[in-house]
Amino acid sequence: MKDFVSTKDISRVELEELFAIAKDIKKNGCEFKEALKGFIVATLFYEPSTRTRLSFESAVLRLGGSLISTENAKENASAKKGESLEDTIKIIEGYADMIILRHNENDSSLRASKVSKVPIINAGAGGGEHPTQALLDVFTMQEKKNIDGIKIAIMGDLKYGRTVHSLLNLLSLYKNIVVYGFAVKSLELPKNYKDILISKGITYIECHEFDEIPNNVDFIYQTRVQEERLEEKEKHLSKFILNKDNFSRFSDSTYILHPLPRVDEISTDLDGDKRALYFTQAHNGVYIRQALMYKIKKDFYENNI
Ligand code: NCD
Repeated sequence: MKDFVSTKDISRVELEELFAIAKDIKKNGCEFKEALKGFIVATLFYEPSTRTRLSFESAVLRLGGSLISTENAKENASAKKGESLEDTIKIIEGYADMIILRHNENDSSLRASKVSKVPIINAGAGGGEHPTQALLDVFTMQEKKNIDGIKIAIMGDLKYGRTVHSLLNLLSLYKNIVVYGFAVKSLELPKNYKDILISKGITYIECHEFDEIPNNVDFIYQTRVQEERLEEKEKHLSKFILNKDNFSRFSDSTYILHPLPRVDEISTDLDGDKRALYFTQAHNGVYIRQALMYKIKKDFYENNI
């Protein structure tokens, strides 16, 4: 593996290999503290980020690597002067051994990977994909349950929620998955994603009322409405807030996930519930990103895969 641009590009075998590495790192982190020694990673972020950038940077440092970083690439001289993403990548490939890219355009990471000599990891591309978030989501889920055969409710912004798109691709690697997609009409899952899911054997049930989600789902994946990506007519829609009261009908083993940041779509009265996994998810992000960079370095630089 050289680049990690989309969750469509990973096989079940590779995913399980990655989870095994992440599990090992979570348990025996010290043994990996020189894995990226002498290696420089660039974090190139054209859109805001707290968790993704800092967890990548923490992951690099925990593996003994070095960092060069730009948090606000859109405002940087090169972008302001009109430099293309491709040209910027062709420059940075001479400064770093791996590039972590967040950008506002859906095809940004793919374009970058086509021109880059060094590996590109997609850290969020417009309203398209956010594949490393999906890795940590599923890693967190499989710590609780065997994923084959799960029922999951995915809600909030299914149209622009890039974490949702990447998560659904990953879930399609498992068997007998049932997804309840709950969103207001204008933020439903786009048809092209639905078609892919169905072709891969996922059962997708569209819901417009919260009550249509059965009490025994294994996971509820709530998301933030991506206000910054909405068209004017999509703004000011009513939003569903998950709280202690409406969550009380679910089973003792229905877990709550959220990629974060939340605005108010999960009430803080759920934070103390042992089924609320969102902070664990964010922390698992470091281990899974360590595992991914470790694997890419081995595959690409050591084994020429
Ligand atoms: C998500 C993103 O950037 O897409 N955040 C994250 O990286 N965890 C979700 C969001 O912004 O709503």
